[in-house]
Amino acid sequence: MIKCVFWLCTLYRIVFAGENRFLVHEEPKSWISETDYRTMLKESFPIARCCNVFINGTFHEVEQSLNDFLRAYSYPYIILQSSYDCQGYLLISSTEENLLWALSKVPSTISTTEILIIYDSDLLANSRLFNGSIYNNANVNLVTVSGIWSLSENFLQPRNFEEIERYTDLRFKNGLSNFKGRELQIASYYNPPMMYLKRTVKKTVNGIQAEIYLTDNDSERDGIELRMFMLIAERLNFTWSIRSPPGEYKYGRLTDNNTWEGGMISQLLAKEVDLAFGGIWLKADHNMLTNLTGPWGLLEIRFLVPRPKPFTSFLALTKPFTPLVWTSVILTLLWQTCYMTIRARVKPQESTKRFRRFSYTCMELVGRLIGVWMPRRISGVKIQLQFWQIAGLVLVTAYCSSLAATLTGTEYEERIDTVKQFVEAGLTWGKEGPMPTFNEYVNLNDKYSAILPQRFKSEKNYQERHLRILEGKYGIVGRVVGGVFFPENDVEGPDFHNYRLMMNPTGGYYLCFAMQPWLVDKVNMMMLRAIETGFKSFYLKDVIHRRASSSLREVLVEHDKNNGTTIPLALTPLTSGFVMLTVGLTVASVVFLFELFSKNKPEKSSDLMYPKNRDSDVATCEGKKDFRQALKELNITKLIKPGNTKHRRNQCSRIQ
Ligand SMILES: *[C@@H]1O[C@H](CO)[C@@H](O)[C@H](O)[C@H]1NC(C)=O
Ligand SMILES: *[C@@H]1O[C@H](CO)[C@@H](O)[C@H](O)[C@H]1NC(C)=O
Ligand SMILES: *[C@@H]1O[C@H](CO)[C@@H](O)[C@H](O)[C@H]1NC(C)=O
Ligand SMILES: *[C@@H]1O[C@H](CO)[C@@H](O)[C@H](O)[C@H]1NC(C)=O
Ligand SMILES: *[C@@H]1O[C@H](CO)[C@@H](O)[C@H](O)[C@H]1NC(C)=O
Ligand SMILES: *[C@@H]1O[C@H](CO)[C@@H](O)[C@H](O)[C@H]1NC(C)=O
Ligand SMILES: *[C@@H]1O[C@H](CO)[C@@H](O)[C@H](O)[C@H]1NC(C)=O
Repeated sequence: MIKCVFWLCTLYRIVFAGENRFLVHEEPKSWISETDYRTMLKESFPIARCCNVFINGTFHEVEQSLNDFLRAYSYPYIILQSSYDCQGYLLISSTEENLLWALSKVPSTISTTEILIIYDSDLLANSRLFNGSIYNNANVNLVTVSGIWSLSENFLQPRNFEEIERYTDLRFKNGLSNFKGRELQIASYYNPPMMYLKRTVKKTVNGIQAEIYLTDNDSERDGIELRMFMLIAERLNFTWSIRSPPGEYKYGRLTDNNTWEGGMISQLLAKEVDLAFGGIWLKADHNMLTNLTGPWGLLEIRFLVPRPKPFTSFLALTKPFTPLVWTSVILTLLWQTCYMTIRARVKPQESTKRFRRFSYTCMELVGRLIGVWMPRRISGVKIQLQFWQIAGLVLVTAYCSSLAATLTGTEYEERIDTVKQFVEAGLTWGKEGPMPTFNEYVNLNDKYSAILPQRFKSEKNYQERHLRILEGKYGIVGRVVGGVFFPENDVEGPDFHNYRLMMNPTGGYYLCFAMQPWLVDKVNMMMLRAIETGFKSFYLKDVIHRRASSSLREVLVEHDKNNGTTIPLALTPLTSGFVMLTVGLTVASVVFLFELFSKNKPEKSSDLMYPKNRDSDVATCEGKKDFRQALKELNITKLIKPGNTKHRRNQCSRIQ
């Protein structure tokens, strides 16, 4: 750039030096006045802020024209070299040949190209320069000694030069274009919520047979993009007919030999249609092949996944503590039991005699821990056991409160919110039509997403999909537009009943229209206006408001979680408690039966019933009373030793 400016300055100096030299001898007189020259440049390059200058001719002409240009033009320029950054092109010559040669260097297919041709001579009416089709999509003004012409705008066919009176009338309008009712061919397809036209008829347009959509039904002439398109059509004053893309791929696809095949993009490439819409994604390969507008909205690829089911577990009673806490409680208990047992054996004392047995010690410590054992004085370990009991109080309180909180709410299976969970839950998915391009749906570089293509199964019709939904383990693929989910293929309301939206999207795209180069700036400007003025948001909200059924909204609602309402306790969460109770009762019954059947050995059984140990406690007395009562009822009084009974009863009543 710096180099370029340097050369320009040099040239400028040479030229002006030349002018000064010439001025002495003869003053070159131009057929365009200086004011007109300025007007001409201003009107012809309304957008370009730099200019490519092509000059070809004899030395004298070149010098004079350059002088005029340099005096009038105040932006950077490049001479005899073209730069695509500059969209303005000034071609000066006095022969048709030279101008046609210069024109071949101009990228005229770009619709924003601005060309000003200055022809230093009279132009014949049959000149090839008057042929509008050689300028493609560029905007052209032609100034000759015999008159001024402006090429009609690039959206009107055929393009013609119109002669104008004054330099100020030179064309290149900045405002909205008026297509004057020209009919444009459009490609789109039934694609909720973008477009709802459905019925087609076969027609031949421009020698190509096409499926043209019927637009006579108001309720079908709906959709976010269709409404935006109709707004653009009305403002630009063009008429339209929409055709469905042939073949299975609606947008077409990149083939192995790097060509684009089928769909709307191919129709655009073949110039069969002028514009295409219907959920076109702003993607690199679309952008390389066609001209896209700026994005108007965002779309996300998402899955609907089965809702988590509530369940109750057998081990619910262990839920309040983690396995680590349970392990520490058991280890502490074992440690304390060992300590007590060993202590009782090493230092025999009257009050600790009962701790010599490991099982008994363990039972008493558990009793003290859960607070059902009356504290009794034990010499030597009094403080220790106090701490033991306080720890027990804390543990039991924590357990009870946590249990109340967990058991009265519902428990749910793990929710499926990420691709990882989707894969781990063993879900499959599917779609009608041809195999999709998987890298558009999921990020194949991700370890888990790369598994999704293996889970894909093609579907033939709605019935097949319905069966898979009934079988479960199926994810429904679709797109989220404007916050509402739209399934990729038809799914009926009741099928959504057990589905919710997976939190993480697997892909996201901007939405845009695709079109021929000459339409881009017009449609793009309308698109920007539709966005700025809020029409886009209005259509988005309005169409979704009217079209999204209640079942489509229902999938957004998360109601499978603990919502704070309490539920009555059923049997299952309490099972482990009941199992312990049953095991205890069974053991007790077995022991009882065993004792009944061993009545032939009264000495032993009485010893068993009445241990001489005075340290037995209230609970055993109570138990024994019941047991004796039962024996009496059963008439087995022989078993009971009168002396012992009296002594025991006294002891028991004293304790009570
Ligand atoms: C002028 O135009 C002719 C073709 O008409 C071309 O061959 C020649 O190279 C051009 N001269 C310059 C300086 O570009
Ligand atoms: C205009 O130019 C095109 C090609 O650029 C040519 O096919 C056509 O015949 C020309 N028309 C006239 C009237 O010369
Ligand atoms: C739109 O085009 C038609 C057909 O050329 C024309 O009659 C009409 O006046 C145009 N409308 C506007 C608003 O320019
Ligand atoms: C328009 O189409 C809808 C659904 O496609 C249909 O219910 C309605 O009857 C049609 N209306 C007319 C006037 O044809
Ligand atoms: C590219 O592949 C398609 C089929 O996939 C074929 O029809 C076409 O001829 C191929 N084109 C070239 C240039 O090889
Ligand atoms: C239209 O697309 C062509 C081909 O990709 C590209 O060269 C050109 O710059 C685009 N035009 C506009 C106005 O974006
Ligand atoms: C809470 O969830 C339960 C089922 O888990 C449901 O029956 C109940 O209606 C819900 N309550 C509220 C207020 O949402």
